[in-house]
Amino acid sequence: MAEALRVAFDPHCELHTVLEDGTRLLMRSLRPADEEAVAEAFRHLSPDAIYFRFWSRFREVNPRLIEQICSPDQKDHAGWVILHESRTDIPCVAGASLWRMKDEPEVAEVSFTVADEFQERGLGTLLLAVLWEHAAALGIQKLVGHVLRENIVMRAWWSALGATEVSGQRHYVTTLLLDETLLESTSAGDRLRQKLAWVRTCMNEGAPPDTRA
Ligand SMILES: CC(C)(COP(=O)(O)OP(=O)(O)OC[C@H]1O[C@@H](n2cnc3c(N)ncnc32)[C@H](O)[C@@H]1OP(=O)(O)O)[C@@H](O)C(=O)NCCC(=O)NCCS
Repeated sequence: MAEALRVAFDPHCELHTVLEDGTRLLMRSLRPADEEAVAEAFRHLSPDAIYFRFWSRFREVNPRLIEQICSPDQKDHAGWVILHESRTDIPCVAGASLWRMKDEPEVAEVSFTVADEFQERGLGTLLLAVLWEHAAALGIQKLVGHVLRENIVMRAWWSALGATEVSGQRHYVTTLLLDETLLESTSAGDRLRQKLAWVRTCMNEGAPPDTRA
């Protein structure tokens, strides 16, 4: 019944949120005009964050990859960015993408990056919630992360949600089913449930309310 009341997911919706310290943030789909800001945001990341995201310790991310990240087709590739509403010296606060797998169209690979100074403030969870809803609207049933063995934070986070891990050579393939009833009753699971409900409210009400991330 609740499903029947849901409106279509709008990838062009802009969602506003406020951190505990009052920082106001805007979350929206990535677009080609974001390329320079995204490149600059990657330059600001710590070496460890770069390594966990790209599995390599370079300083400059390949411009072709940035172009791809910033060109979602809203069908097989979706991407979201979180921007600071008042600080122009912070190019991007966080971002995440999903890419549908060619040989398994109901599965999408995901990646997340949260600027070091904004980590552990709920933004990874917020991005996962919007990607989850976006993926579900695209008929995707599973999100898959390729996570380096030493990326304890990402592994612990997804494990606390109920994701399953399969071991690879350098990494784990961690899989999250897009079925809210399977989310674990952990703080990570509870927070994700709250953010999923919030994203749906934003989509349903058109003008998203401010909320605490
Ligand atoms: C992984 C990452 C995206 C998480 O983003 P985040 O904004 O910190 O995530 P959240 O604040 O929503 O936290 C999610 C969970 O992880 C926990 N967590 C996040 N950072 C943590 C840390 N440094 N130590 C311990 N726990 C941590 C949070 O406490 C939360 O769990 P809880 O709800 O039970 O408290 C972020 O650490 C990051 O960008 N890392 C570098 C790049 C990367 O590893 N990307 C993933 C590869 S695909």
